[in-house]
Amino acid sequence: MATRWGICGAGRISHDFTVALKTLPAGDHQVVAVAARKLEGAQEFAKKHSISRAYGSYEELARDPDIDVVYIGVIHPYHLSTCLLFTNAKKNVLCEKPLAMNSREVQEILDSAKKNDVFLMEAVWTRFFPASVEIRRLLAQGELGEVKMVRAEFGLPLMHIPRSSQKELGAGTMLDLGIYCLQFICMVYNREKPECIQATGTCQETGVDESVIVTLKFSNNRLAVFTSSSAMALPNSAIIVGTKGTIQIPDHMWCPTTLDVNGKVTQYPLPEPYLPLNCIKSTGMRYEAEEVRQCLLKGLKESAVMSHSDSVLLAGLEDEIRKQVGVVYSQDSK
Ligand SMILES: NC(=O)c1ccc[n+]([C@@H]2O[C@H](COP(=O)([O-])OP(=O)(O)OC[C@H]3O[C@@H](n4cnc5c(N)ncnc54)[C@H](OP(=O)(O)O)[C@@H]3O)[C@@H](O)[C@H]2O)c1
Repeated sequence: MATRWGICGAGRISHDFTVALKTLPAGDHQVVAVAARKLEGAQEFAKKHSISRAYGSYEELARDPDIDVVYIGVIHPYHLSTCLLFTNAKKNVLCEKPLAMNSREVQEILDSAKKNDVFLMEAVWTRFFPASVEIRRLLAQGELGEVKMVRAEFGLPLMHIPRSSQKELGAGTMLDLGIYCLQFICMVYNREKPECIQATGTCQETGVDESVIVTLKFSNNRLAVFTSSSAMALPNSAIIVGTKGTIQIPDHMWCPTTLDVNGKVTQYPLPEPYLPLNCIKSTGMRYEAEEVRQCLLKGLKESAVMSHSDSVLLAGLEDEIRKQVGVVYSQDSK
């Protein structure tokens, strides 16, 4: 039976996620409903993607009994309230990254998912790309020897987008882009907590981080460094350096489709979208969607690849980095 998806929020990434779902077999994934704050927004989205039910409130989607899982694609200051709405309605949830604004909110979401016995995952789509699966396989088999250094960067000029500059919309490069570098480093170092973090950055007049540079030191003298910027394009590559070899992602490290392993290059092409996408390579969201389906079929409440403890680790590190850079959201004082 197909997994029946409900889409919460009719914005840019919800559009891309819906396009990505339709690159998967219809017998496995169906989008059956969409909800937006305004009915017209939901109706327009439903028409564009041939979705049968459109709701003018998230609450109506939460009451829809014929949905297996809700994809939350609203901006991150609303992830807490929206996740709680659906978990309390006993709905399984895939929520866009960052799962929430800080560790306290993340914990509240995870507690609610646990209490209501529903599946919940932060949509860190990078981890489910075939190239990422291959990286984990190579690391687990010791192909690189001992990893000594991880470097990653993600920078795009996004300042013209309101949610990238306005604090109340959750702006800040760490939670928007840096999170992809951080999750990559945490994946490579097998979820170990770093011994030491040093972060510096520049902030906009609105008080949100525009560019950050972060160094992390792990046990046994292993290092990582990442750069994130919402003000400029960076090469957006990543590299893992071990005692026996290196893996490079030459570009688009958050949606990797090319891997260079000790000089041998392999491509992992994506399917074409049926409508233009808002973000680069978004049909790659199909892999996280399939992970959700497989978890639901097995009755799991979390994914082993992007687990609840992974979200807790990320949120704790994000809090520390923001603290060092001097970024405080209104949610931090609650
Ligand atoms: N995985 C990825 O590659 C990726 C890429 C981009 C973004 N994201 C994440 O996805 C989320 C949404 O990003 P986006 O670029 O899609 O954002 P967006 O298009 O600006 O907004 C998404 C939705 O959020 C709701 N929203 C927007 N402004 C709001 C406001 N002022 N008050 C209340 N609700 C508001 C709206 O829902 P309604 O339609 O209901 O009005 C809107 O459609 C973010 O958390 C972001 O980090 C992920």
